[in-house]
Amino acid sequence: MSLPDSAIPDNVSGGSSPHISQPSTPGTEKEVLFENFDLAVDNRQYVLVTGGLGFIGSHTSLELLKTGHNVIIIDDLSNSFANVYDKIQAAANIHFANSEKKCPELKLFDIDYRNQIAVRVLLQAYSTRRQSNISGVIHFAAFKAVEESIKNPLKYYRNNISGLIDFLGLLEEFNIKNFIFSSSATVYGSIADRGLPLREEDCVHHPETFTDTTGLEKQAVQGCSGITNPYGRTKFMGESILADLATSDPSWNIIALRYFNPIGCDVSGILGEDPKGKPSNLVPMVVKVMIGQYSELSVFGSDWNTPDGTAIRDFIHVTDLARGHIAAVDAPKAEGAPNFRTFNLGTGSGHSVAEIVSTMEAVAKVSIPRKMVGRRAGDVGSCVAVADRARTELKWKTEKSLADACTDICTYLERHATPTAATSVVA
Ligand code: UD1
Repeated sequence: MSLPDSAIPDNVSGGSSPHISQPSTPGTEKEVLFENFDLAVDNRQYVLVTGGLGFIGSHTSLELLKTGHNVIIIDDLSNSFANVYDKIQAAANIHFANSEKKCPELKLFDIDYRNQIAVRVLLQAYSTRRQSNISGVIHFAAFKAVEESIKNPLKYYRNNISGLIDFLGLLEEFNIKNFIFSSSATVYGSIADRGLPLREEDCVHHPETFTDTTGLEKQAVQGCSGITNPYGRTKFMGESILADLATSDPSWNIIALRYFNPIGCDVSGILGEDPKGKPSNLVPMVVKVMIGQYSELSVFGSDWNTPDGTAIRDFIHVTDLARGHIAAVDAPKAEGAPNFRTFNLGTGSGHSVAEIVSTMEAVAKVSIPRKMVGRRAGDVGSCVAVADRARTELKWKTEKSLADACTDICTYLERHATPTAATSVVA
């Protein structure tokens, strides 16, 4: 299928690469400089993944390919590297090497999802007579550093909220209304302080009744309090906007996935977690200590109300998390089912920071130097999911363990880095 002439800006040139590139200046009216690209339009159905080169996005793109979905990635490389595209492709090729099935298509468009002109060109190219070849969108593209969001809130609201609103408007124009939103357990705010596992009904946007563990019918209270930072608020607001949109137009089908703490990497060791700059999350910091970039790990808080005093999180293998997205995007919509639904993606059980470090030590057979320091501002002692809703409604459950995640990280490190500092072998 050829690209309609009207959809192509004058300055677009043809080419053969599946990777198009243009400056990430959202909203620039005059200059949309596509270079050396080929939209390579065809009649296949695609899942569009924004932020598909990031940690969760890349693993989800890989699982989409493995399960037979063609994938179009939009990513502006603001917190990822272009070679992740090659890594996804390489890992997918390994998966299909001994299969009779062919690896589906993977395309990368190096653009900011907020660039309405560029995204419109793309959506137009993949539409035929008001029917889009994009069957669903998984939206990861967002900023996610808590501290940075406190220092520069407008940057976060601009990207995570204004960008989302404009993007949804474009999708609506092209009648693409199957939308998966990358949300976070951070929406539970201070409810996590109760120390009880978190249920989706603990944070709702519209009135909802549910049956509690004792069988009683209850009314969930709308809203959430105690979200400590702008990043967290953008996730809460993003969900609210989506819930309102779904109410206004029943033809939307929207799922918000609330991630707990993703760790690990694809079993091949080809794809991993590779953020730009200093990481703030626990496992990337553990890895930096293992490879000698930092001399020791600071453990934030040893006086939490937990068995070993360190904080507890629901650490979920990123491949399990990625598969949760496939379950969501493929989920049949039951007659009368709500068209906005939230799901926790967690394991349902917690591990402490100390357990993470000791499991990694045991798997990697290294010692990981650490020191106990004070609590990090905004942290909670425990944050664990009730994972029943996704199990029942999406038919999804986690399969991988904490040790699997550590093993896969070690495979990744063997391929990509040589441990230097943490060299003393644990007996
Ligand atoms: C963090 C974000 C959360 C976001 C999630 C995305 C904060 C306050 N929260 O969650 O909003 O959705 O990442 O992945 O940043 N820890 C250490 N030493 C370190 C790093 C972390 O002890 O060097 C501890 C933390 O204090 C915490 C636990 O490890 O108790 C997990 O931390 P982290 O990986 O940053 O995740 P969250 O804080 O749960």
